Amino acid sequence: MKNLWRVLPFSFILLFLAGCGKQNLTALDPRGPVADMQHSLIGLSLLIMVFVIVVVAAIYVFVLIRFREKPGDNHIPEQVEGNKNLEIIWTAIPILLLIILAVPNVMDTFTLADTETDDDTLVVNVTGHQFWWEFEYPDLEITAGQDLYIPTDTRIVFNLEASDVIHSFWIPALAGKQDNVPGITNDMWIEAPEEGVYFGKCTELCGEAHWLMDFKVVAVDPDTFDEWAQGMAEPDSELIEPTEEVAAEGREVFEQNCLACHAVGGEGGNPQGGPDLTNFGERTVIAGFMEYDDESLEAWIRHPEEQKPGNLMPGFDQLDDDEMDSLIEYLNSLKVLDDE
Ligand code: CUA
Repeated sequence: MKNLWRVLPFSFILLFLAGCGKQNLTALDPRGPVADMQHSLIGLSLLIMVFVIVVVAAIYVFVLIRFREKPGDNHIPEQVEGNKNLEIIWTAIPILLLIILAVPNVMDTFTLADTETDDDTLVVNVTGHQFWWEFEYPDLEITAGQDLYIPTDTRIVFNLEASDVIHSFWIPALAGKQDNVPGITNDMWIEAPEEGVYFGKCTELCGEAHWLMDFKVVAVDPDTFDEWAQGMAEPDSELIEPTEEVAAEGREVFEQNCLACHAVGGEGGNPQGGPDLTNFGERTVIAGFMEYDDESLEAWIRHPEEQKPGNLMPGFDQLDDDEMDSLIEYLNSLKVLDDE
């Protein structure tokens, strides 16, 4: 029974790690050149450390057994002072190990720090807000919230900023973390060879809902990306003036209650406001973490504070059921990619 208590903490760690794996929130399964580089540096460091531990432990055990005091034998061992050969060996080996560690580290550091851009690079300005992410594509003149769309096989350079406090931008499968600091612009680059959804997280304690400050990277083929960017820049006029009756009513409710903070199709929003909602209907989660369905959406709009403590969105519990239904219908209709 006593031993059970010793195992318990490890079971919890395993549980957490299992949860991480589910959302590819792990640096141990790299999916791009940057993460690959960092992964092999971790591997090399680990290998060297394990080698040192094994060798030191072996010498320790050997000395412990070989030179232990034997019963009845109480002669004093020969007294020596220093051993030149040994000292050279145990100075040279660590130096050699440090060189093996340093060379790839320094080389990769230069590669990772190189955020030079050219015509083929996609630049994204990433701003951390309490508690959501803003992705501005300056060359395409579009801004997106929460879902970061990128084309595959393209060099993406991020300029990282923050509007309020320090956040930290992390997409474990694609790259290590980098801080978003107010007043300072940090940069980093990534590349995603495979299409897919990569989960990201804020990893700097930034307030009450820090742990819910999630986002997604959606890597799509370059053609789909162009279609997406086109849709974001010039969304279907239906998003602005829906033809369907319920959504049209929803658009009105949206204009009266939401447009001051949330932009749709380049209309509305403000720098201190909430995320751009032009492609809201294509999200798979609400507010970064709630499952996307009508019930959650209503719960979020009525009482956002209960879902994500400390976020700046006021609740809209004053909307009656009809207004809420049409608003949700309108939000669901906000899409820029053709359904497949
Ligand atoms: Cu933003 Cu933690």
